[in-house]
Amino acid sequence: MIRLDNIVATYTTQRGHVNAVDGVTLEIPDSIVMGIAGESGCGKSTLMKVIYGDIGFPLSLSSGMVDYGFVNERGEPVTTENIRREWFRHISYIPQSSMSSLNPVVRIRDQFVDFPATAGRKKEVLAQVRAFVPKLGLPPEAIDAYPHQLSGGMRQRIMVAMATFFQPEVILADEPTTALDVVVQKSILLLLLDLQKEMGNTIMLVSHDMGVHYQITQKMLIMYAAKVVEYADTDDLFQRPLHPYTLMLINSLPTIGDDRARHGLPGSPPSLWEMPQGCRFAPRCPLATALCRKEEPPLLEHERGRFSACHYAASVPELKQTLQAGPRLSEIAHDTAQLTADVERDV
Ligand SMILES: Nc1ncnc2c1ncn2[C@@H]1O[C@H](COP(=O)(O)OP(=O)(O)OP(=O)(O)O)[C@@H](O)[C@H]1O
Ligand SMILES: [Mg+2]
Repeated sequence: MIRLDNIVATYTTQRGHVNAVDGVTLEIPDSIVMGIAGESGCGKSTLMKVIYGDIGFPLSLSSGMVDYGFVNERGEPVTTENIRREWFRHISYIPQSSMSSLNPVVRIRDQFVDFPATAGRKKEVLAQVRAFVPKLGLPPEAIDAYPHQLSGGMRQRIMVAMATFFQPEVILADEPTTALDVVVQKSILLLLLDLQKEMGNTIMLVSHDMGVHYQITQKMLIMYAAKVVEYADTDDLFQRPLHPYTLMLINSLPTIGDDRARHGLPGSPPSLWEMPQGCRFAPRCPLATALCRKEEPPLLEHERGRFSACHYAASVPELKQTLQAGPRLSEIAHDTAQLTADVERDV
């Protein structure tokens, strides 16, 4: 179990300080796929960086810490303070636009074995890497290539290979597939899921695609304007969301072959520099009242395991009735069968 305790993560800019993650408290169980969604700029990548422990200028931690729930080789609990030493072995990160994060002038094989965990045994590790790479649908020669000699999909598979090779307990994947075409996207996701099933680790997946989340995650975290607004089991969250923002995100989900009108998401999130008083979602919320514009709702456990930061969480299911044109969830597979079929058909 990973515990986040009141995380406030701050960027220092020329204009001043701005909190891109603002008071996030959370417990993430082991061995699940957890999805993170929310519009651009709501702090998803910043939260990933904090959990990875990649905190350095201009990003700093103004409050809180992460407790990873295990001890290191010296018997010390692993926290934000010392997580860096566990990179690759216990936690790995596939950053947003990670395809361009491979070093262009270093062969893949050298990038693979060039981190602290392999010190003194590079040859041995390289032999293991050569055996591992074909399992990920990569030709064995890929390991000897320079990044530019590989396609985007292959480079992304290399990133997945690097992030999974040491079988870390936690894999953070920040939109690992956005730059790729749809078939490659799906096959990369399946690859990650296969590895997760085999290794039983925790994956935290950032994606804008609520359909992908519905298909592959067990828990969902919805962020809005640097805060968590809803956190619940994926089934519950999709069937009966307890935050109007979640409902609107789900309703804006396009379903293939469904030509009914979509309730998109009118308006845009507030600037981090000009946060409204009270609930940050109130200016866009169909349920908002004077109370919402005055008092910020805390994230509360409204039902067992169901967290929502809304004064009117109990009214959200009714709102769902009035907004009729939601996607027909029954048309989206709630497992990976559809993904697998799509990939097999299209390849
Ligand atoms: N290096 C930086 N310096 C200053 N502000 C930053 C920096 N990186 C991000 N921010 C700001 O922090 C906020 C959160 O950014 P973040 O990248 O975490 O959002 P995100 O949810 O990942 O968005 P996206 O979906 O576009 O990837 C944004 O308002 C962004 O402008
Ligand atoms: Mg991001």
